Amino acid sequence: AGLDAAGGQPQAAPAAPPKASEPLTVIYASESGNSEKLAGDVAKLARKQGFKPKVVDFADLDVATLPKAGKLVAIAATWGEGEPPARAARAYGELMGEGAPRLDGVEFAVLALGDTSYAEFCAIGKALDARFEALGGKRAAERADLDLDFETPAADWIKGTLKALAPAAAPDNVVAVDFARAGGDEDAEPSRDPVVVEVVEHVNLNSSRSDKETIHLALAFEDGAPAYEPGDSLEIYPENDPQLVDEILSATGLSGDEALRKALLAERDITTLSAATIERFAKATGSEDAKAFVESGEVRAWIEGRNLIDLIERFPAKLTSEHLGTITRPLPPRAYSIASSRKEVGDEVHLAIAAVRYETFGRKRSGVASVHVADRIRDGAKLRVRLKPNKHFRLPADPATDIIMVGPGTGVAPFRAFVQERRATEAPGRSWLFFGDRHFTHDFLYQLEWQEALEDGSLTKIDVAFSRDQPEKIYVQNRIDQHAAELVEWLDGGAHFYVCGDAKQMAKDVRAAVVRAFETVKGLSSADAEAHVAGLERAKVYQQDVY
Ligand code: 2AM
Repeated sequence: AGLDAAGGQPQAAPAAPPKASEPLTVIYASESGNSEKLAGDVAKLARKQGFKPKVVDFADLDVATLPKAGKLVAIAATWGEGEPPARAARAYGELMGEGAPRLDGVEFAVLALGDTSYAEFCAIGKALDARFEALGGKRAAERADLDLDFETPAADWIKGTLKALAPAAAPDNVVAVDFARAGGDEDAEPSRDPVVVEVVEHVNLNSSRSDKETIHLALAFEDGAPAYEPGDSLEIYPENDPQLVDEILSATGLSGDEALRKALLAERDITTLSAATIERFAKATGSEDAKAFVESGEVRAWIEGRNLIDLIERFPAKLTSEHLGTITRPLPPRAYSIASSRKEVGDEVHLAIAAVRYETFGRKRSGVASVHVADRIRDGAKLRVRLKPNKHFRLPADPATDIIMVGPGTGVAPFRAFVQERRATEAPGRSWLFFGDRHFTHDFLYQLEWQEALEDGSLTKIDVAFSRDQPEKIYVQNRIDQHAAELVEWLDGGAHFYVCGDAKQMAKDVRAAVVRAFETVKGLSSADAEAHVAGLERAKVYQQDVY
């Protein structure tokens, strides 16, 4: 019914121009696409409510235009240890810097996305919210700080915020809209509903003597694979380690509660710990010791490398299943870059997943989804998955454009998709892959396939860096240094450049190597070389998919 009401579109009525022309700018700072998706949701709903919305990526944002942008909604993700998403860093820096424009009279609202398992939860959203106010803006709605289970609260926030931003002069401008149905119609996107798929291939790509284990998974979609593109990711809904679940159950005196066991296996996040979790634990248990600990200021340092079981062991307390429900957050799905092209594999999706295992404080730990896949999934098993599109990691529109791909470790996954796609479409552009891992004999992921691709021409060149086959470390960026002249030649000829893999170090080191290449090969100053690479990023010629 709400939708029908909105159907009498306000812009059809010239008698009430403010309804149709209330400018609204939605800016978003996105790394993995969630903020971007929500910005689109805001625009769709805003349009139905008579705003004239404009969506702008921080990557393209000219901050000088903000004072005239009309009402302002900012959706910002926080990445890693309190950093802005890579593409957003420039505009974010300008907004925070001395050159930022005054925003007197601009009505704004900020939605912050983050992950409570990291320090500095939602730091970027919080900083923007304070900054807009300091620049003279008027906060129209309270900020929301959302964790990985953001979808429902974000939808509520968007509804409330658009209500608050609606022009006071036209209060009946706001039409009740069923948010869940508000999208749907326009620009049809591939379905994003989770579906159950069958595992049809499960092989370890490393040799049995490797210290790594990387699982190649082929997943079959019975009713047709979603319309994914090379560069997209697939989310896996994992299950927790049953042994860890049992430990938690017995440590809390709840063994035997089958319903709870099921929930802890598949629905609750029992492997991350945040300051907020500990506060909820202290409140739920009423433990004086835990309360004192929360107030001690030592929590931040203590949680590093620990999780829920460590907390329960440190503060033994009888818990109810309700307590465990309020203490933990929902188990989030994990996203993996798709390693296949539909044009080559049909209704399948292939993934390459490295098992994450380590030990801290005398206890073996494991990555939830990766070890679920490595240890508890076999051929014929079922998995629940969901497509996660990423339009910021795409092959060039022109198949004749050359591509350079840098993907050490599982970072190589999307490049298998790129090469498959270019083979299937007989794309004439050249392709150059930089791959790295520890040992040539144990860790050369998809080695035979690269050789075949070199033979059939879908891959033009490959340069490899095996870091531990010699006394000194050799990394992909060292190979870039060695081939700087040719790399610059390709880039000057219009080649697109892609990096996938580790965000903390590798992606930064690779970017520095590309800057260095322009310095040494073209004799640019380091500032000019840096500006040149920044320009490639803004032109979306230099693209990253990092984690
Ligand atoms: P290492 O484990 O020997 O340090 C895939 O994980 C490959 O990336 C490994 O060979 C790993 O080397 C390497 N690697 C680690 N840190 C890196 C960095 N900062 N830049 C590039 N490669 C890195």
